[in-house]
Amino acid sequence: MSEHKAAISNKRGEELKVATRPTPTPGPGEVLIQVKSVALNPIDHVQRDTGFQVAKYPAIFGYDIAGVIAQVGTEVSDFLAVGKRVAAYSFAFDKKGAPDYGGFQEYTLVPAEVVAPIPEDLTFNEATLLPMAVHTAWAGFYQIGIDESTLAGFSTSKTPILVWGASSSIGSNVLQILTRLGFIVYATASKKNHEYLTSLAASPESVKLFDYKSPTVVEDIISATKANNSPIELGYLAAGDLNTVVKVLNATKPTAATAKLAVTPFTFNLLLWKLHTWRGVQATFVAPPTDAAKALEFRKFVFGQWLKEALVSKTFTPAPKIKILNGGLEGIQNGLEELKAGVNLTKLVAEISK
Ligand SMILES: NC(=O)c1ccc[n+]([C@@H]2O[C@H](COP(=O)([O-])OP(=O)(O)OC[C@H]3O[C@@H](n4cnc5c(N)ncnc54)[C@H](OP(=O)(O)O)[C@@H]3O)[C@@H](O)[C@H]2O)c1
Repeated sequence: MSEHKAAISNKRGEELKVATRPTPTPGPGEVLIQVKSVALNPIDHVQRDTGFQVAKYPAIFGYDIAGVIAQVGTEVSDFLAVGKRVAAYSFAFDKKGAPDYGGFQEYTLVPAEVVAPIPEDLTFNEATLLPMAVHTAWAGFYQIGIDESTLAGFSTSKTPILVWGASSSIGSNVLQILTRLGFIVYATASKKNHEYLTSLAASPESVKLFDYKSPTVVEDIISATKANNSPIELGYLAAGDLNTVVKVLNATKPTAATAKLAVTPFTFNLLLWKLHTWRGVQATFVAPPTDAAKALEFRKFVFGQWLKEALVSKTFTPAPKIKILNGGLEGIQNGLEELKAGVNLTKLVAEISK
């Protein structure tokens, strides 16, 4: 039996340890990926530290995978053949930490619907920026009423939308996608990141940036929407404070409307899990559809259609910036500490194999 190395969580709250484990075989609808690079996400240290969504130990985390297809199960489309370079969103969350499915290892199993081929000129490190960010971006869009069936209608609409925390990994991708769909994005980020974020937008006119550290940020956004005669009733909270965003939306929405907000930060997610409204705003924690058939269709759209096409047409740039961790698999444990301490406009990436 083949074996490979993995960074394993053996107990809640303990450090990840690198060890050897058996390499699995893909079942129907699955592929085995040789992981070249993996990016770190806040959910990784949340799961390591709290055991959240872990059914049993040992467990393996890691969501943002880029690599090469090593083996293909039955019932997998021809375009995912052995040797294909791909980006993939691991099923570590859906499989509750089951070790065959986490990205922090040299070989991992992934369902075909969350695998997207990547072009030759995209590096594996760049490709790791995509899966979690685009999956989360689109999950939030669906929850505030932007889905593939409404894309055509929005394409020239210049609908204004608020994106809070645009320098985050999720926010920088949300900003980019929305401006390319034709939205005018009112976004917040530290002043030093405004130039880079403007460069990601479809055009400089499609994004209006505000410094969330300014004591007048709320008033500044409200004044700008009034001056532009652009009421905002849609929002995406990628990073930052729920109450501040709700305050802005309640002041900028048309009087009779209820603002809709997609919320990603983990702490607010738990709060909103059952509530669905917060201080007059329809606020929903970001997650893919709960119905299995709808989740499958959603993921086929995000990875098999939208991302695949965006990469071929080069209408999408992986963001934010990359920092390579020292030590590959061995470096992931320290990398999670670095991520927990806070990063700015940066994704931490571990190179797993050459
Ligand atoms: N399915 C889900 O629900 C889901 C999926 C993925 C992530 N998440 C959650 O979404 C959040 C973002 O994840 P991420 O990986 O994108 O984060 P990240 O890249 O680590 O976010 C770091 C960025 O957040 C920005 N930021 C920090 N405090 C802010 C504030 N008060 N207002 C505005 N921006 C602020 C900083 O911007 P500046 O550099 O400009 O200061 C920094 O660059 C996390 O809480 C994560 O757990 C949820």
